[in-house]
Amino acid sequence: MTALQYSLVDRLIMTVDNGLRTVCGKPPISERPDPADSCEEVELSDAEQRLAAALMRVNHAGEVSAQALYQGQALTAKLPNVRDKMERAALEENDHLLWCERRISELGSHTSLLSPWWYSGSLVIGALAGLAGDQWSLGFIVETERQVIRHLDEHLARLPEKDAKSRTILEQMKEDEGHHATIALQAGGAPLPEPVKKLMALSSKVMTRTAYWL
Ligand SMILES: [Fe+2]
Ligand SMILES: [Fe+2]
Repeated sequence: MTALQYSLVDRLIMTVDNGLRTVCGKPPISERPDPADSCEEVELSDAEQRLAAALMRVNHAGEVSAQALYQGQALTAKLPNVRDKMERAALEENDHLLWCERRISELGSHTSLLSPWWYSGSLVIGALAGLAGDQWSLGFIVETERQVIRHLDEHLARLPEKDAKSRTILEQMKEDEGHHATIALQAGGAPLPEPVKKLMALSSKVMTRTAYWL
């Protein structure tokens, strides 16, 4: 069965299934190897380990949100070819989700306790973006990915220099997010109005500040 044949009820059920898998840590299995596997584990001080874990928790929360944004858009985007693109991008985000989660547990910490909240809030935002029309929906992806890249750069600057495992994961994620942005742009994503961009940056700031601690 192709995505074109799914009814709204089918897609709703798939969205709920995906949400539970994302929040409970069992998203569909990804095919790419974890980039951190190529790096040696080094000993970090307690403070370095706490910092790295907190930053990776923020990144994991961001990936939970990205997953929900894509799923929300997939639910409401009008053109089937756009819906397919959203679903494929959401699948690719699963790699990031798994890599971050694994790294957080290696660093002796936990994912954000507010993951269900990040998922449900982002799902609604994604669904609204999908309703606004495909060019806006794709534009929303472009802007989201650009903001994520800026935020990954900030984390790369803050992570302990010797934490090669976390750094390698973020480098690969950055490359992937750039690719997602390019695909959405080429598919016809429109530039978003400045107030919308600012609102997106503000809500992401709330999430990143909170997930650092919780
Ligand atoms: Fe991602
Ligand atoms: Fe992405």
